[in-house]
Amino acid sequence: MNCTRRRLLGYAAAGAGLSLVPRAWTGTAAQAIEGCATQGAFTIPLAASGERVALGTETLALRATSHHDALAFVAGGVRNPALVAAAGMTASVDLVNALGEPTTVHWHGLSVDTRNDGNGEAPVAPGATYRYTFPIRNRSGLYWYHPHPHGATARQVNRGLFGTFEVEDDDELALRRALPVVVGETQLTLVLTDRRTGDGDRYAPAPEDELLGWYGCVPHVNGILRPYHDVARTAYRLRILNASNARTYRLAFRDDAGNAMPFHLAGTDGGLLEQAVRCDEVLLSPAERADLVVDFAGLAQGRYVTFETRAFAPMQDVPRAAIDAVHAHAPVTSSLPDGAPFDLMQFRVRGAAGRPVSMPQRLARLPPIATSDEDRPLRLGFAKGRWRINDRVYDMDTTAIDVPTGAAETWLLRNYHTSAPHAMHLHGFQFRVVARETSPEQVVSMAVDDRGRLPTDLGLKDTVLVWPGESVRIAIDFRTPYPDAQVYLVHCHNLEHEDAGMMLRVRVG
Ligand code: C2O
Ligand code: CU
Repeated sequence: MNCTRRRLLGYAAAGAGLSLVPRAWTGTAAQAIEGCATQGAFTIPLAASGERVALGTETLALRATSHHDALAFVAGGVRNPALVAAAGMTASVDLVNALGEPTTVHWHGLSVDTRNDGNGEAPVAPGATYRYTFPIRNRSGLYWYHPHPHGATARQVNRGLFGTFEVEDDDELALRRALPVVVGETQLTLVLTDRRTGDGDRYAPAPEDELLGWYGCVPHVNGILRPYHDVARTAYRLRILNASNARTYRLAFRDDAGNAMPFHLAGTDGGLLEQAVRCDEVLLSPAERADLVVDFAGLAQGRYVTFETRAFAPMQDVPRAAIDAVHAHAPVTSSLPDGAPFDLMQFRVRGAAGRPVSMPQRLARLPPIATSDEDRPLRLGFAKGRWRINDRVYDMDTTAIDVPTGAAETWLLRNYHTSAPHAMHLHGFQFRVVARETSPEQVVSMAVDDRGRLPTDLGLKDTVLVWPGESVRIAIDFRTPYPDAQVYLVHCHNLEHEDAGMMLRVRVG
């Protein structure tokens, strides 16, 4: 299967819809913001996203700690470890809260019960320890962990409190053998965040940040500004996590002749696709993951490839009154809006000619999509100064959505026209995207099937971006192994939207 190659409207060209947005990308003006630049030299070598720490039979102590403004989870001296677990095992992790404030660990994408979901409704007090123990029910994939104390999630994640969580199973090991790739050498995890420069990088959101989301102006990969990495002339598997508070990336590769370099999408949030999809680009909204295979075999020694995010229209068409209200405050400096193009990192091709990649025909099997006759509507919009789902905001004492035991449900995520893109995340379950309807042109042009789906819609998902004016239908299998009812959350993963209450409780069972 191929992604279409139709060009999207450039960010600047798409400016007509941006009249209500306070700052539009204009290139030169944006470059003038001190220290902010969408391009620059690649001078620092890439580092690993985190040292790998395999979970075993013993409980892992994970300390949430702070050092000045920076926060980290530390396990036996390893900062923000890249946790690795085998499918079927039982994970046991002690959160030791050495912060001066409450926190939790949410295992993003993993199928756990409420007790182990770290959803913020029972925060772990400073000085306290909480044991998470749960069987690994998910397929192989790149999941992640981060705090979820309501109202403080955005700040704690932004200050560095998160890590990746890999699940391994037979499909995963088979793919590594087939490509072949070696973890840490030709298989890399790349975590995307955006930062601000100078004092602006301390997390102190202005009203505009709280309304639209916190956007930086310099992109980081594994915590490094525009790193480079020497690569051999062979296939690389790049597992990407978008850990940014609010920024969406339109990821692509560009060779040194300026040509787009196609790649394969092998997996999404919940693991491998059935078949890899050949793509020129993928969209990755906050919390989403993409599993990419890029082949450097065809490039001569000494050439280089830039990993970039291309321009797109941010479509933050929030009501005039809300914009006027934030304009009454000092403007945010050291920030570039969603959709600004950035060079993220550079791959430098080294060494002797290698073998081109042979992508296996079938990567994995996905469970069949089970839909219901009736949709459950979730309307996403802005009213009375807040982002809302079905006109409601989060209330710990109210369960907005009740799902009967074992139901298969179809949810219709409908975003209003006067809105912003919302990266909708459901705890505890992976879902399937059934269709996208009334999508904006820049999304339509990336669709790969007659249901309007994007390449990243073809696998298991726990987070899906819904654009203004768009409806996304998702199918969720709510069967659980738990004897009693469990409470989960559905929310926008733009962390400022989430902390401001764009979140509802979901009771299952
Ligand atoms: Cu990654 Cu409720 O979040
Ligand atoms: Cu949102």
